[in-house]
Amino acid sequence: MKTFLKILSLGKEYKYWMLLAGFLSFLTVGSGIGLMMTSSYLIAKAALLTPIYQLQVAIVGVRFFGISRGVFRYLERLISHNLTFRLLQKLRVWFFSSLIPVVPSKTIDLTSGDLLNRAIEDIENIEHIFVRVISPPFVFLASAILMFLLLLLFGLNYAVIFLVMYLFSAVSVPALTYFLSKKLGEEIIRLRTKLKELAVDGVQGISEIIFYGEKARWNSDFNSIHEKLVTAEKRMKNIQALHESLTGFAMNITVAVLLFTAIPDVENGILEGVYLAVITIGIMASFEAVVSIPQAFQYLSLTTKSGDKLFSIIDKQQEHSKADKKTQIDNYNLKFENVSFSYDNFREALSNISFEIKKGEKTAIVGESGAGKSTLVNLVTKLWNAEKGKITIGTTEYSDFNETKLREIISVVPQKVHLFTGTIKDNLLIAKPDATDEELSTAIRKAGLEEFINNLPERLNTNIGELGKKLSGGESKRLTIARAFLKDYEIIIFDEALSHVDSLTESLILDSVKSIPRSKTLLFITHKLNRMEMFDKILVIRNGRLIETGTHKELLEQNTFYKRLFEKQNNK
Ligand SMILES: Nc1ncnc2c1ncn2[C@@H]1O[C@H](COP(=O)(O)OP(=O)(O)OP(=O)(O)O)[C@@H](O)[C@H]1O
Ligand SMILES: [Mg+2]
Repeated sequence: MKTFLKILSLGKEYKYWMLLAGFLSFLTVGSGIGLMMTSSYLIAKAALLTPIYQLQVAIVGVRFFGISRGVFRYLERLISHNLTFRLLQKLRVWFFSSLIPVVPSKTIDLTSGDLLNRAIEDIENIEHIFVRVISPPFVFLASAILMFLLLLLFGLNYAVIFLVMYLFSAVSVPALTYFLSKKLGEEIIRLRTKLKELAVDGVQGISEIIFYGEKARWNSDFNSIHEKLVTAEKRMKNIQALHESLTGFAMNITVAVLLFTAIPDVENGILEGVYLAVITIGIMASFEAVVSIPQAFQYLSLTTKSGDKLFSIIDKQQEHSKADKKTQIDNYNLKFENVSFSYDNFREALSNISFEIKKGEKTAIVGESGAGKSTLVNLVTKLWNAEKGKITIGTTEYSDFNETKLREIISVVPQKVHLFTGTIKDNLLIAKPDATDEELSTAIRKAGLEEFINNLPERLNTNIGELGKKLSGGESKRLTIARAFLKDYEIIIFDEALSHVDSLTESLILDSVKSIPRSKTLLFITHKLNRMEMFDKILVIRNGRLIETGTHKELLEQNTFYKRLFEKQNNK
C-alpha cells in the first residue's frame, strides 16, 4: 500500500487529467449501455409493428449514443495515452536523476541487465498504473450505480439482483485469476530479468564467448530460459482467457437469473414484454466494465512489485540530497583524518588514513595492486562515502558537501575508462560542453593524442564505436586524459593514467602533468615509478594503510618499502 501511494504521489500533478480520463471512460461504458438499451427497445418495438412516429425518441437515442460512444472512446484514449506518455517521461527522468547520486554504492550488486530491466520494464509497469489499475475499478463502480438506477425504473428487485450478481462477478473472478496468476507473474518477471542479463552479458562479452568456445552453451542457456519464459507467458495468456470466459459466464448467469425473475412479471402484466430485451441487453453491455477488473488486480501486484524494485535502490537518495546544501569553499586543501572504508562491511579497503594535500601540491599515490589506491580516489570523488573519519576540502566536510559543486571542481581520469558511443568530439565535450576549438586542441596535445587524431580521416568527428570499441586501450586512455584536462578543475586526479601507453607518450603525458599550474592540485596514482622527483609528496599505500609519506629523495634515503619498490622496478 505504501508503495502504491508513493507511486501515486509521483503522478499527482496529473490528477485532474486522470479524473477526466476516468470520467470519459465511464461515459463510454454508459453510452454503450444507452446504445444497447435504446436499440434493443427499438428492435423489439419495431418487431411488434409499432408506428414509426412512436419510435422517434428511441431512434434519436440510438443515434446519439452510437455517436457519443465513439467520440467518448476517442477522447478517453487520447487523454489516457497522453497521460501515460507524460507519466513515462516523468518516471524515466525521475529514475535516472535519482539513480545518479546512488551509483555505484546501491547498484554495485546489480547486473546491467537487471538495471536495464528496472529502467525499462519496471517503469513501464508503473506507467500503466492509471489506465490499468486506477481507472477500471472507478469505471466499474460508476457503471454499477448507473445500471442500478436504470433498472430501478423497471423494479427494485431487478436492480438489487443485478447489483449483487455484478459485484459478485467483479470480486470472485478476479480473486480466482489473481490466485492462479500470482506466482506465475513473479516467475515471468524473474525470467525476463534473467534473459536480459544473459543478453547484455552475451553482447558485451561476445569475444570471450567465441574465444572460449562457449557459443553453443551460451545459446542453449539463452534458449532454455527463453522457452521457459514463453511457456510461462502462454500459461498467463490461458489464465487471461479463462478470466474472460468466466466473466462472460458470470454475465450470462446474471442475465438468466434476471430473465427468470422478469418472465413471470411479463406474464402477470407487471412488465411490458419489450423491456425484457432492454434489461437483458443493457446488463450485457454493462459487463464491459467488469472485463478489465481482473487485469487491474494483476497489474496492481505487478505495479507495486516494480515500484518496490525501483524504490529499493533509490530511497537512499533522500539521505544524499539532504546534504545538498550551499557549499562555500574557502580553500582547496584536501584533508583525510582517520578515514576507514570497507566495500562490504567485512574487509577494510582503507584503514585509518590521514594526510593533507595543500592547494597546488603535486602528490603521487603509489602501492601494489589491490593496495587501496583507486578506493582512495572513490572517496575523494565521493562515488563512495567514507564510513569512519573525516574528509574535508578547506573547512567543508564531505558529508556537508554540495555534490554538484564537488563535481565542478574535481576532474578525474579513472582507472577503468568509459567512453560513450559517438565521436571523439562528443566524448571530449562531456567535460566541457562549451569548449572552444582551441581548448579542445590544447587538451588533445597535452594528452599526447594530437598525432593520432590528425591522421584520422574525420579527425575530431571520427566515430569511435560503442564504448569506444574502435580505439586501442592506450588511445582510449589518452582520450579520457584529454577529457580531464579540458574540464575546469581545482583538483585533478589521474588513476593509472600511464597504463597501456608507450614510453614516448608516457613522457609526453608526464610533461603535461608537470606543467599543471601551481594554482591547481594534482593527485597522481601510479605504479610506474618514473620521474617521481617531480612530485612534492609521495604517499605509499600498502594493504589499505598509509605506510610512508615523503618526497622521492627522502623516501630513497631511508630503508623504505618505496625504496624496495623503486629498486625492483629499476632492476637494482
Ligand atoms: N566495488 C568493490 N567492491 C568490493 N571490493 C572492492 C571493490 N573495488 C575494490 N575492491 C577491493 O578493494 C581493495 C582495494 O582495491 P583498489 O581498487 O582500491 O586497489 P588499487 O590499489 O587501486 O589496485 P590496482 O593497482 O590494481 O588498481 C581490493 O582488495 C579490491 O578487491
Ligand atoms: Mg586501482
